[in-house]
Amino acid sequence: MRYYAGQEIDAGAEAVTAPRDVAVIVGSLRQGSFNRRMAQALAGLAPIGLGLEIVEIGELAHYNPDLETTPPAPWLAFRERITRAEAALFITPEYNRSMPGVLKNAIDVGSRPAGRSAWSGKPTAVISVSPGAMGGFGANQHLRQALGALNMPLLPHPEAYLGGAARLFDERGELTDESTRQFLSTFITAFSAWVELTAGTRR
Ligand code: FNR
Repeated sequence: MRYYAGQEIDAGAEAVTAPRDVAVIVGSLRQGSFNRRMAQALAGLAPIGLGLEIVEIGELAHYNPDLETTPPAPWLAFRERITRAEAALFITPEYNRSMPGVLKNAIDVGSRPAGRSAWSGKPTAVISVSPGAMGGFGANQHLRQALGALNMPLLPHPEAYLGGAARLFDERGELTDESTRQFLSTFITAFSAWVELTAGTRR
């Protein structure tokens, strides 16, 4: 799904409105994932000028440099999609005080071949979501560390550690917690300004 000014749009609307293309990477493959729900809620709150689309990472083979001679088709499609995006937004759970392996794998796949990273120069931001009280702080920080190596201008503030995730959604998966909605709105507005400020400033 694509969104413009909080409204779902079809692909044909892009040419007219041309919102900034933001690739959203969700670090969970789980059906019913709180992180995916948060990404969907965030897309609906995005301001004019920002178009969020979840880019799937579940089909990416484990990164192995030996495969670069004939890269798997999902690697090539993923790299092409990230290259096309104007910004990238990461929304991740915490696994054992770090980011899930599937997310790190996607980052690694996108970063190669050496010298041709799809991530380089893309404005970015991180949200971590957990049912626990610490809101995935460890995953968020480790992810920020990795993004620093990728030449991605990273939104410094506000930081987003969203805890107690199981209480934020109704049975249909809709975000019902008003203070979280307000925070997400503030966050995505700040990210939009960050994208405008930093897009195209690095290569
Ligand atoms: C977890 N979980 C977890 N939570 C947390 O706050 N800190 C942690 O270190 C971990 N570690 C961890 C390891 C593994 C292997 C799993 C499967 C889970 C719990 C995790 O936050 C919870 O399953 C979330 O619901 C995952 O996010 P999604 O899938 O709902 O988006």
